[in-house]
Amino acid sequence: MTDTTPVTAPPYADVVDLERYPIHELDSARGRALVDACRADLAETGVCNLEDFITAEAVDAMVHLAGTRGGDAWASDRLHTIYFTPVDKSVPAEHPRAYQVRSAKRGIAYDQIPKDAPLRRLYESDDLTHFIAAVLEKPVLYRSADKLDALQVTAFQPGEELGWHFDNSEFSMTVMYQQAEAGGDFEYVPGLRSEEDENHDGVQQVLQGDRSAIKVLPSAPGTLAFFRGEHALHRVTPIEGGRPRINSVLTYGERPDMRLSDLTSEIFYGRTSS
Ligand SMILES: [Fe+2]
Repeated sequence: MTDTTPVTAPPYADVVDLERYPIHELDSARGRALVDACRADLAETGVCNLEDFITAEAVDAMVHLAGTRGGDAWASDRLHTIYFTPVDKSVPAEHPRAYQVRSAKRGIAYDQIPKDAPLRRLYESDDLTHFIAAVLEKPVLYRSADKLDALQVTAFQPGEELGWHFDNSEFSMTVMYQQAEAGGDFEYVPGLRSEEDENHDGVQQVLQGDRSAIKVLPSAPGTLAFFRGEHALHRVTPIEGGRPRINSVLTYGERPDMRLSDLTSEIFYGRTSS
C-alpha cells in the first residue's frame, strides 16, 4: 500500500526558500544540518545570517506594505543611554552610564500588518518558532503576546538612526527588506562586555569614536539574522540618500505572556495595546 496522506504545503511556502532552508522538516537530515550550522555560527560569532531566507516576492510585498502603511507608522525620536537606564548623574557626561545616544525610527505595529502579509504568515507559523527555538537551543519558545510589538515593520527614513546600545534581551531576530542608498549600516562590537565585566573603559572608547573593533553585519534584502546583542554594543548608522531602510523585528520569549510595558509601548507605537 502506498501512503496516500496528502502533503499540504505550509502556509508560508511562498515566503521562505524551503529548498535551501527546510524549516518545515527540521527532523530530516537537511533540517538538522541547517540547525547545526546556525548554532555553530552563533557560538563562534554571536551572529547567524541566513541570506535569501525570504523570497524576492515576499520582500517586494513587505516593501510595498511599508510604503502603503507608512502613514500609520509611529515616529519616535528620543535620547537614551546605551543601557536604556536613566542618566547616571554621579559620573562624567562621557561615561557610558551617562552618555546619551539618539534613536529615531517609524514603527508599523503588529495590528497594522494585514493577516495575509508574507511575514505575518511566516511569523505566526509554529514551524518558524520551532526552528528559532532549535537554533537557540531553547526547550520551548513563545511568540510575544504583545498585540503591537510581536512583529513590526520598522522604517528608518533619511536622517534617522538607531543609537548605540546593548539589548536587554539575550537575542533578536530581524528580517531585512530594503537597505538605504548609503549609511544605515548595522555596526557592532562583539563581546564588549560580559556577565562579569561591564568594561566601561572599552565601551567609552567606542562611544568616543574608536572604530578598531567595529564589525558591520551584512544585511542584504531577504536575510533572516539571529543576533546576540546582550554583550555586543550595536547600532544602525544614520540613513543617507532618499530611500528608507526597512526591516522587521520578530519578538519571542521564554514565557507565553511577554508584553511591552505601557511606557515602552507609548514610546515605540504612541499607544498601548490594552
Ligand atoms: Fe538592539
